[in-house]
Formats: sequence, structure tokens, C-alpha cells
Amino acid sequence: MAKLAHAQWSSRMTFVLAAAGSAVGLGNIWKFPYMVGESGGAAFVFVYLLCIALIGLPILVSEWLLGRRGQKNPASTMSELARTAKKPRAWAIVGISGIVGAFLILSFYSVIGGWSLYYTVNSVSGAFSGQDADGIGALFNGMLSNPGLLLLGHSVFMLLVIGIVARGVTKGLEGAVRILMPVLALLLVVLIGYGMTTGHFGEALTYMFNPDWSKLTAETVLAALGHAFFTLSLGMGIMMAYGSYLGKEIDLLQTARTVIIMDTVIALGAGLAIFPIVFANSLDVASGPGLIFVTLPLAFGNMGGGTILGLMFFLLLTFAALTSAISLLEPVVEFIEERTPLSRVMATVVAGVGAWLLGIAALLSFNVWSEPLLFELGVFDLLDTLTSKIMLPLTGLGAILFTAWCLERSSVEDELGLSATGKSVWNIIARYIAPAGVIAVFVTGLI
Ligand code: PFF
Repeated sequence: MAKLAHAQWSSRMTFVLAAAGSAVGLGNIWKFPYMVGESGGAAFVFVYLLCIALIGLPILVSEWLLGRRGQKNPASTMSELARTAKKPRAWAIVGISGIVGAFLILSFYSVIGGWSLYYTVNSVSGAFSGQDADGIGALFNGMLSNPGLLLLGHSVFMLLVIGIVARGVTKGLEGAVRILMPVLALLLVVLIGYGMTTGHFGEALTYMFNPDWSKLTAETVLAALGHAFFTLSLGMGIMMAYGSYLGKEIDLLQTARTVIIMDTVIALGAGLAIFPIVFANSLDVASGPGLIFVTLPLAFGNMGGGTILGLMFFLLLTFAALTSAISLLEPVVEFIEERTPLSRVMATVVAGVGAWLLGIAALLSFNVWSEPLLFELGVFDLLDTLTSKIMLPLTGLGAILFTAWCLERSSVEDELGLSATGKSVWNIIARYIAPAGVIAVFVTGLI
């Protein structure tokens, strides 16, 4: 988002596209399917959907509402609103931890952005053509075990992000989202169509939507909650920053519904595209972060027009990753710019290079530095776990607690334009269900 000192979004549509550009990314297409696979399928999907509806939606609305009221960067917004509401300034922590979380996520997000770039190149060179599962698996493992290659992808991706954010040209990207997001959705439909021809589509449907509750553990519930935050870009101040550019006339609840539906449809679509291929080739559903990189190339390598479809797909994936990564860097840059004498360009370089350096540690954990660092996790997993499972839920919890308990209740209800029933539902969910849900899942997941 460009720094338009408290200008407003030119239209609701622009805002929806920017928010969707941040929300829809690697989280939907790369992360969601492999988490479903690692967590045992439909039971995880149901808990995830529940978390989106009962926790994600109210927190998304709260973050926008706080941003719209504060009109500043997340840290200043929170301390300003706390001052007005005569609450401790410590609430600023909600904004600050969001900024730190965004920085940490960007570091490993860029590594996966690099994978996507590498696969774009592979599609052009015909590397998937006629390959079987072993060949595609070898390609992926070859990439993971090659630090130089990973570093190249990570560096190019981060350079793109830094370049775009430094020039503040994100407005142009919002326009592109309008075209590219539907094309991405269309490609997923083509892939789902391909999945139907494998004869394993029914199995995939059952896997994703017919729950075996015995597979559910406290750990998978925490993973589902964390992913609900990750996929909606919550708990990072990003939606709060976007909200600060929102005009009063925008209906927050309706807009949140639109963004959430887009995000969820893309994630479920990715799952439906991937699992038929997994089952048709007897691949391991729980193979982890490599899942889309070992399934989709198999499809592209063995279907008519696969080369061009593969190229389009990985290009679009890279693009979706870029729009999300930009939204991760922007708040960090804004913060540095406001708190230090650095110019926008320098602030972008400092933040971007910092995240790039941390990303190097993350990519080395796939090869030369694979020994666990802490809690049996390597750097990549540690960054992912720390942000998704701890920082995002806690920061999001802060946002909803502040909205529901510290702001004047009637003014929030008015701002959301709620009916009498709507008011009761909102208050029950925002004051009790969502916070209690986060706390319960958080505590049981961690012990
Ligand atoms: N929501 C993005 C995705 O699902 O890929 C990732 C992301 C972007 C997370 C921005 C957090 C964020 F602030």
C-alpha cells in the first residue's frame, strides 16, 4: 500500500482487492494443503473453518475498526486509542508485536517465494514433462539440498519485494490483483478438472470433508487456529494498517465476509486440486512443505498443455506470494520510517535486508544446518511455529479484547451498523467466544 498520509482507498473494491491480495498467498495454496495432509484431513478442515468463522471474522473486523479509528501505524494506533479510552499505553504492544511478527514471517515466506520462482523457470524449461513421481520428487529434493539455488530464489524474490515497496508502486499491483486473482482461481478449476480425470477425486473429497475425529489432537487444533490467522493476515497489524485508510462508509462486516470467502474458496480449491493427484500417485499426504511442489508438477508434466499451464500457475503463485510479501514488509517500513530519520528507500532496504539475512538461516535449515536449534525444531520450523502458533493468536487476541472490552460498546455497535439481534450475536462472539476460543486452544495446544 502506498503511503498516502491518511488518504483513503479510492473505492471499496480497491480495498477488498488489497486486503485479498494480502490474504491470498502461499498460505492458501502452499501451506493449507500440506497442513491438511499433516493433520489428518477433514477434521482439521472443519476446525479451521470454525476458527475462520468464529475467531477470524470478528478479529478481522476488529483490526479494521481499530485501524480506521486510530488512523496511524498499528503501534501508534493502539497507544492512541488506549489513551483516549483511558487504558494503559501498554496496549501498544499489540501493534509492536504485529510488526515484529510480520518481519519474522517475511524472512521464511521469501524462501518459499524463491521455490515458486524456481518452479516457474522449471516449467518453462520443460523439467516436468513426462516425469513420474520419483523424477518430480528428485527435482524437489535436489532443490532443497542445494543452498546456492535456494539462496538465489530467496534473493531474487526479496529483491522484487524490496524494489516494489521502496518505490511505493503497490497501487499498480492492486489493479493487477483484480485480473490475476480470477485467473488463479480459474487455473485451480482446471486443475480440479484434471483431478477428476484421475479417478481419485471422490477419495480426495472424502479425505477433505468426511471427518475422522479420532485424528484431532490439541496440537492440530492449535495448528488450525494459527493457520486461520496466517491465511487472513491477522495478528500482524497489517489489516489494522489497511483499516487506517478506510472511509467511514465502508461496511466492515460485509467486506470481511467477501475477503474471507475469497480466501477460503482458494484454499479449499487448492486442496481439491492437490489431493486427487496425491492419491492417484500413492504419494504421502503428510509429506509436508513440499506437497504442492511434488504433486502439481506431476499433473503438469502429464497433461496436454501442461507446460503452459504450469508456467501460468507458478507465475501466478509467485505473484500471489509477492502481494502478500509486500503487505508484510510495508508495516515494518512504515514503522522504521516514522521512528527513525531514515528515508523510505533506506527503511525498506534495512528491513528487507534484515529479513533476507534471517531467511538465509531458514533456508540453510533444509540442508547444511538441519540439526534442531530449539524444541527439536530447525530455524525454518521455529520461525513458522513462533509466529503462527504463538505471536499471531496472541496479538489477534489483544485486538479483539481491546475492541470488545475497552472501546465504548455502543459506538462499536453503531459503527458496525448492527441490528438488535446482530448486537447480541456480535457481543457474545467478540467478548466471549472468540477470546475464550483463542485462549483455550492456545493453552491446551502448548501444554
Ligand atoms: N496471508 C498470507 C498467505 O496466506 O499467504 C500470508 C501473510 C501475509 C501472512 C501477510 C501474514 C501477513 F501479514
